[in-house]
Amino acid sequence: MADRYLSFTGTAPGRFLTRRFGLPQPAPLRRWSPEHPALDGDVLHLTAGRTELDLPSAGMTLVTAAERPAAVVLDATGVRDVDALAEVHAALHPVVRSVAASGRVVVLGTAPDPADHHQAAAQQALEGFTRSLGKEIGRGRTVNLVRLTDAAAAGSTLRFLLSPRSAYVSGQVIGVGTGTGPVTAPDDPDRPLAGRTALVTGGARGIGEAVAGTLARDGAHVVVLDVPAAEADARRVAERLGGTALALDITAADAGARIADALPDGLDVLVHNAGITRDRRLVNMGADRWSPVLDVNLASVVRTTDALLAAGAVRSGGRIVATASIAGIAGNAGQTNYGASKAGIVGLVRSLAPRALDEHEVTVNAVAPGFIETRMTAAVPLFIREAGRRMNSLAQGGLPADVAETTAWFAHPASGAVNGQVVRVCGQSLLGA
Ligand SMILES: NC(=O)c1ccc[n+]([C@@H]2O[C@H](COP(=O)([O-])OP(=O)(O)OC[C@H]3O[C@@H](n4cnc5c(N)ncnc54)[C@H](O)[C@@H]3O)[C@@H](O)[C@H]2O)c1
Repeated sequence: MADRYLSFTGTAPGRFLTRRFGLPQPAPLRRWSPEHPALDGDVLHLTAGRTELDLPSAGMTLVTAAERPAAVVLDATGVRDVDALAEVHAALHPVVRSVAASGRVVVLGTAPDPADHHQAAAQQALEGFTRSLGKEIGRGRTVNLVRLTDAAAAGSTLRFLLSPRSAYVSGQVIGVGTGTGPVTAPDDPDRPLAGRTALVTGGARGIGEAVAGTLARDGAHVVVLDVPAAEADARRVAERLGGTALALDITAADAGARIADALPDGLDVLVHNAGITRDRRLVNMGADRWSPVLDVNLASVVRTTDALLAAGAVRSGGRIVATASIAGIAGNAGQTNYGASKAGIVGLVRSLAPRALDEHEVTVNAVAPGFIETRMTAAVPLFIREAGRRMNSLAQGGLPADVAETTAWFAHPASGAVNGQVVRVCGQSLLGA
């Protein structure tokens, strides 16, 4: 369903009217394309506090002064007490206006230290700062906080955040370096997943189709799994991407074993994307609506993950990416079943991630989409749909490609130190903020 309001506000009368009546003014976002793979311009590198950080190269030119930077990276890892927060203000206040449209602000911090309340107060302050700046900065610009434990392992994360690939990721706090997963530079940076196999559940359409396409772009052989009723679509997607289709209902008790049988050499990237909704308020929700949602969205994810890890089917250096939702973070009327299933994904990811890394050298993360333009959201009644689209800092819905790019960043061989993270792809939705 096209966002006609976004097209309208791009016209001169649209700009005039929306300004006149104080209506949301979404800026067209600049997303990745082969012709436009990078942000145009310099990355302004600023510091606050006494830092010892050696910033990993993110493939962009870092400068210490720029008239119209494409991005600003503020190294605030040296902010160890509340007084040093003045340096955050002093660094960003003069330059924030000059950041280009669809530009980026990335704040680098460290984890708040439970043993040092001065440091913890200052570092936690960066979170409120980041989220507030994200809400006011406008013009399609995003603001995110990266908490570094191992700065050397942050290259893939900075490359993602400082690129058009992260267009719809804003207001996020991302931890890097909490584990010790292998961080491997790919032989071909344009095809980082070359030689790897990725399986995407629910890959026949919507977000899953976009994820399969993006992983194939990055060089992976993709296996497009979907229910037997969607087999024709799954085959069409797989053929287009040079991959294979697998017709399988992921809720089957033996789904894990059947995936392992279909992929005797194992797999490297497992994307749990299949999901359904069966909305009703709890008073009107029979078990016929509760059970399938819990089964597809959560129980089958737990079952197949357990089965594939136990069978050693996810190769060392592998990646598991599950799909949560802002409804699992904020809750949503009429979605007790869906909200429960998606919050369950968050619990699963946080608990399993350290063990999967220790025992299998596999990372486990989740994307939590907000309002994404798909058939699922096109079916939402007009007014609720319009509210969903606008109630975020970028005042527009995201595209399946936005979720796909975030998945590709998790899947990247150099993202081994990104583990146990739940990253919302929601344009900084006001829901669950
Ligand atoms: N669209 C959004 O705004 C949004 C927001 C938050 C989260 N999500 C989540 O993103 C994921 C994809 O959403 P979408 O909008 O692309 O949905 P969609 O309905 O367009 O596609 C879902 C796909 O999953 C498949 N599927 C369903 N049950 C399955 C099963 N038992 N076994 C195998 N495949 C199955 C469907 O056949 C379909 O191809 C879901 O997990 C959804 O909950 C979407």
